[in-house]
Amino acid sequence: MWEELEGKFQEALEALKQVQDEAALEAWRVRYLGRKSPIMQAFSRLKEVPREQRPQVGRRINEMRDRLTEAYEARKQALEQEKLQRALQETLDVTLPGRPATPGRFHPSTRTIRRILRIFAEMGFQVFTSREVELDEYNFQLLNIPPHHPARDMQDTFYVDVDGDGETYPVLLRTHTSPGQIHAMRFYASLNPEDPPPIRVVLPGMCFRYEQITARSEIQFTQIEGLVVGRQVRFSDLKGTLTDWARRMFGPQVRTRFRASHFPFTEPSAEMDVECFLCQGKGCSVCKYTGWLEILGCGMVHPTVLKNGGYDPEKYTGFAFGMGPERITMLLHHIQDIRFFWSNDIRLLRQFD
Ligand code: PHE
Repeated sequence: MWEELEGKFQEALEALKQVQDEAALEAWRVRYLGRKSPIMQAFSRLKEVPREQRPQVGRRINEMRDRLTEAYEARKQALEQEKLQRALQETLDVTLPGRPATPGRFHPSTRTIRRILRIFAEMGFQVFTSREVELDEYNFQLLNIPPHHPARDMQDTFYVDVDGDGETYPVLLRTHTSPGQIHAMRFYASLNPEDPPPIRVVLPGMCFRYEQITARSEIQFTQIEGLVVGRQVRFSDLKGTLTDWARRMFGPQVRTRFRASHFPFTEPSAEMDVECFLCQGKGCSVCKYTGWLEILGCGMVHPTVLKNGGYDPEKYTGFAFGMGPERITMLLHHIQDIRFFWSNDIRLLRQFD
């Protein structure tokens, strides 16, 4: 029996070398060190051994148990080390290149709008936002465009009549930011109806027109409106303000010119051109060899519009202007087709960092 035990002891040591994972190690422990293992059983059979030999045999069994326990602990540690090494190798290769982080960026139109607004802010203008969904009254009538006025043909409109309270409201998507002029004037006038305060605001926002989409016109686009109202505001103030803005926007050298035009809500009306900043006025394909780029529409606020806004045209005058940030962005960055702006092609957006 004791030879057999020595044999089991050797067997156990050999078997431990084969153990490669935790499950096998635990099976080994139960088999060779558990309560029913030959070595542990041997302790209870010690009384069968003749008394004189007992201490010696007992010592040997103890020794075998301690050796196996030590070997077990050593193997356990080795396995843990191996596991850790493997995990480190698998998950952490510090030499791998990092994954590029792709931060969001502003849309080119937003960038242009922010630039334009910043310049106007430096010049003392406040930003006034107004709604994209309008009533016919604000988009047209209060701006001196009565029903059936031919000027409506210039701005084909998305009409969405809305029913409510037994009535139909002629709701539409605004075709320009000009209705904001009425909202702004009525707001400021409400602060002191007897003596309305002067106004100096810019109004950015999205506009919509029911048009054929082409390389030059979209059904959706942004505008920035400007409105200045006060006592003794003159056409020379309009020219000075817009010329100063153009110099800050396109460079101190840039020249501007005003051409007579027509808008129902301004009188007189004009359009402002800036000298082509791509060819410095020499003539190129972008300015169609004229040397000038049309940038905005403007004029002195029509007396009827002032009155509709709550400002007495006998006491107050004002000027207004409207410009298209997409058009300005196209000129600044040589973008040939306005459809790029809302087609969500990441390749266009990626060019603006
Ligand atoms: N609302 C005009 C347009 O959409 C632009 C404009 C604004 C002209 C203010 C004059 C004054 O074309």
